[in-house]
Amino acid sequence: MKIAVIGSGYVGLVSGICFAEIGFEVSCIDVDANKINLLNQGSIPIYEPGLKALLARAVKNKKISFTTNLSEGLSKSAIILIAVGTPQNENNGNIDLSYIYSAAKDIALNISDQECHKIIVTKSTVTVGTGQQIKRIIKEVNPSAKFSVVSNPEFLREGSAIEDFMNPDRIVVGTEDIIAKEAMTMLYSSFLAKQIPVIFTDIATAELIKYAANSFLATKVAFINEMADLCEKINGNIKDLSLATGLDSRIGSKFLNPGPGFGGSCFPKDILALSHIAKENNSQLAIVDAVISSNNNRKTRMAEKIVSVCEGSVTDKTITILGLAFKANTDDIRYSPAIVIAKELLKKGAKLRLYDQEAVANTKKELGENSQISYFSDPYEAAQSSHALIIATEWKEFHNLDLKVLKNNLSDPLIVDLRNMLNPEKVRSLGFRYFFIGGK
Ligand code: UGA
Repeated sequence: MKIAVIGSGYVGLVSGICFAEIGFEVSCIDVDANKINLLNQGSIPIYEPGLKALLARAVKNKKISFTTNLSEGLSKSAIILIAVGTPQNENNGNIDLSYIYSAAKDIALNISDQECHKIIVTKSTVTVGTGQQIKRIIKEVNPSAKFSVVSNPEFLREGSAIEDFMNPDRIVVGTEDIIAKEAMTMLYSSFLAKQIPVIFTDIATAELIKYAANSFLATKVAFINEMADLCEKINGNIKDLSLATGLDSRIGSKFLNPGPGFGGSCFPKDILALSHIAKENNSQLAIVDAVISSNNNRKTRMAEKIVSVCEGSVTDKTITILGLAFKANTDDIRYSPAIVIAKELLKKGAKLRLYDQEAVANTKKELGENSQISYFSDPYEAAQSSHALIIATEWKEFHNLDLKVLKNNLSDPLIVDLRNMLNPEKVRSLGFRYFFIGGK
């Protein structure tokens, strides 16, 4: 069976390549000719472990193709996945659905009377009501088109996208008719065979499930971050609290790691969007609103924490930040706490030495290059003559930093570990002043 995927961003690319790996013939369509050229040469425009090898196999097996030509890509595809971007409009939580609606219009213009029933599936995270709007657009543009609309939100995480796609906890499918239900059952037959639950629901509920899931996870993170603050006040230890709380199977141990606040292109945007959906529907989501403000404040408070351990001022001090991506295993810096902290420290007059194994190029685009900022491809070089070293992203390599080399390189043996990666006793025994999250 042939399927088409419109949009070759994170979700589109991973879904397309994984469906090709499963055995479907996949046509990936994107308006960005540079991206399509890159993909046709076997390169991946994002950093995602394992994706390049999977692409190479799909190309070798002739299971995947990339094109900017929509009608060529859609031709003979029974299922069309829409995976275009849904950026945030302003800060009011509204999301910009123009790429989704323009894809719907383009699809409508490319369905001929002779073609079989098309299943049009939203994979992008879209607000409640988008599926119905897509239906209206297609009917209006092409009244004779035979089609169904489906909501099939994606739950993969950056950095572990392939594993998440191939072995999800569940698959959510919002449909309104039996033709779509049967097509989606076929699309996910190999997952059903692995006993992965597929939840069939109506379209609006499927759209809302995605926001509920992301917002609940964001709430867990914000909650444990606030508990970490309280632990600092009572001389407690967040590590033990997190472990003991998470071992209650009703709570679960995942997403209970305290840190500098959640970031990325999903949680911050989706939780705002959920709050907006509630307001539009005269419903109150007090918890969600509290999480938004808790997380926003946290990132700037982390910068204040750094200033306070630097004797109250970072003016003309040199600070090294290890880790710039919003989390490990990605080059994505969108809403990254490290970037917010960097901006705050720059405002307060600090000089920054920045290191990340993947995210330096994106950070250069965001922060620029000037006399106040230098970038490094080695963490020890980045630490040279700095007054403080900050760990802001939980890259695995930071677990094994050579602390003796760091101590020699830093002008002040001061570490602020915003991801609790180092062993406090070990670090302090080497003469460092060491601060972490949720303990003394
Ligand atoms: C998130 C969801 O986890 C995915 O299920 C979803 O598909 C995706 O959004 C999306 O909507 O596309 P992602 O943004 O890639 O995935 O990142 P997460 O691993 O969920 O982390 C989000 C943020 O929470 C990061 O800043 C991370 O550092 C932070 N976090 C996470 C913590 O601070 N502590 C934790 O214990 C877990």
